[in-house]
Amino acid sequence: METKLPKLLPPNSLISRAVKDFIESKEEKFIKIWHNQLKEESYSASYFLRTYDKMPEYEQLALSLCQGSILDIGAGAGAHTRYLISKNLDVTSLEFDSGFAEIIQQVENSKVIQEDFFSYSTKEKFQTILLLMNGLGIAQSKARLPIMFDKLKDLLADNGRIIVEITDYKFSPEYDPTTMNDPEVTYRVMYEGSFSEEFHWLYPNLEMVSLECKRLNLKHQLIYEEDETLLLEIKKH
Ligand SMILES: C[S@@+](CC[C@H](N)C(=O)[O-])C[C@H]1O[C@@H](n2cnc3c(N)ncnc32)[C@H](O)[C@@H]1O
Repeated sequence: METKLPKLLPPNSLISRAVKDFIESKEEKFIKIWHNQLKEESYSASYFLRTYDKMPEYEQLALSLCQGSILDIGAGAGAHTRYLISKNLDVTSLEFDSGFAEIIQQVENSKVIQEDFFSYSTKEKFQTILLLMNGLGIAQSKARLPIMFDKLKDLLADNGRIIVEITDYKFSPEYDPTTMNDPEVTYRVMYEGSFSEEFHWLYPNLEMVSLECKRLNLKHQLIYEEDETLLLEIKKH
């Protein structure tokens, strides 16, 4: 008898499905993530809807710096977008997964653009560009990080700031160079018996970000540091 391999889905579609299920059922759902360099992790769907009081300190700090027109890149279920809208700020949420985009569309006054960051094009310049939960990861590879930075600089208003959170494992108290030495990772997601395709993600370290800023004549400043979690502010002047 022929056994069929299960259909593999885009990983973010499984995560957004879990978040939708959580919203509809009001029961917690869990997503498992396999990583080729780190231990397997379990995320609760509600984490993607975390409210301000449940956010880590560095996310609260990042939100306190948001002003003017804001671009939330890789907005997910809109945890940060929701808070900013509640403060009457002008937020555009860029998200390529249709499930997540639909979740954010339900939020009153949201402006969602369902598109891949790399094909997104606009004449608009943003005063704040937000990249939280290791947001530069969407570059997926070292080779695409310069392309991502070129685009970020282009989207940034002259007086604007990019607020980005990175995970630099060299700052981790458990740093193990034998397992955490490659910033390019692949992962898979599992949710209620469905598996995702492999997905590439990048963990750019401080050195890589510094090099990009130098190349583009951008100024960066470390504004928060807690073990491997670093929050940076990047400006044109
Ligand atoms: C780690 S999640 C972070 C979600 C959200 N910022 C948060 O902190 O809860 C990354 C998000 O980026 C989105 N994403 C990944 N690659 C993208 C791309 N090329 N363009 C737009 N969104 C992307 C994913 O669908 C996912 O929702």
